[in-house]
Amino acid sequence: MSAPTAQRTNPDRHATAQRLLKSSAKKAYDPSVDIDWDAPLVDDALWVPEHRVSLYGTELWERLTPEQRLELGKHEACSVASVGLWFEVLLMQRLLKDFYAEDPTSPRAQYALTEVADECRHSQMFARMVATAGVDPYGPRESVRQLGKLFSVVSRGPAAYGAILVAEEVLDRLQREQANDERIQPLMRQVNRIHIMEEARHVSFARDEVTRGMAEISRTEKAYQRFIIAFISMFVVRSLINPKVYAAVGIDPAEGRRAALANPHHHEMVRWAGEKIVPFLDEVGLVGHPGMTWWRQSFLLGER
Ligand SMILES: [Fe+2]
Ligand SMILES: [Fe+2]
Repeated sequence: MSAPTAQRTNPDRHATAQRLLKSSAKKAYDPSVDIDWDAPLVDDALWVPEHRVSLYGTELWERLTPEQRLELGKHEACSVASVGLWFEVLLMQRLLKDFYAEDPTSPRAQYALTEVADECRHSQMFARMVATAGVDPYGPRESVRQLGKLFSVVSRGPAAYGAILVAEEVLDRLQREQANDERIQPLMRQVNRIHIMEEARHVSFARDEVTRGMAEISRTEKAYQRFIIAFISMFVVRSLINPKVYAAVGIDPAEGRRAALANPHHHEMVRWAGEKIVPFLDEVGLVGHPGMTWWRQSFLLGER
């Protein structure tokens, strides 16, 4: 049998997708059966380590009781999960647009659909975890949710996949830390473990798209790509914690958000979470003018 046309004409473009298709066929999870949704929650278990809560180290944090700290951690974990699934929906739109423009028989197109299938299961899993925790599915702030409608319009090429990588790799770093922490709620740990295993493929795919995409575009287009990725990444990072979470422990949402955005501990957590992806984006030329204002506001660059 002859290979599909796209594969014959441009083998490099499909090599990574081909490898990832094989890996997906070998190992994929179905959270509806791979998670015991009927298991009771552990009352005193943390949902995130205390040092990852956005107000950790602030005066507001000092005023909270141990129970309130645990409650805030639970609401923040559920905020991140519900914002994470919103990112996944935006990524699915991007992947489907790419599929639409491609030979449907090519490995790259086939892998795009496979990744959509992964993300469908993840989004169901995150939503179900939030419902099981009994917390509102906060999602992003309304203004950012509206802005998200523009994602697949203004972003294309390396910046689109680069911004997706920021979301995936920042969350991945936090999830890896929690998956092995025995103080964390077992449901949260299992959700994280499943997500980590499948995201590794998504990260490989997106990194390949970014590297190849940057090699193919003009200098002017690179400047546009640098602006767009910085702008979106700033919103990605600043959207993880919906300010409504603070009301769950009696803190005014605006006051809580101000304190978190001014919290050096929170800045350091974001820098740490971006420690793997930022050098990669820098190396391919996506961190720089005219996006530096947005990068600095994202806290991803640390003191730079
Ligand atoms: Fe995912
Ligand atoms: Fe993903």
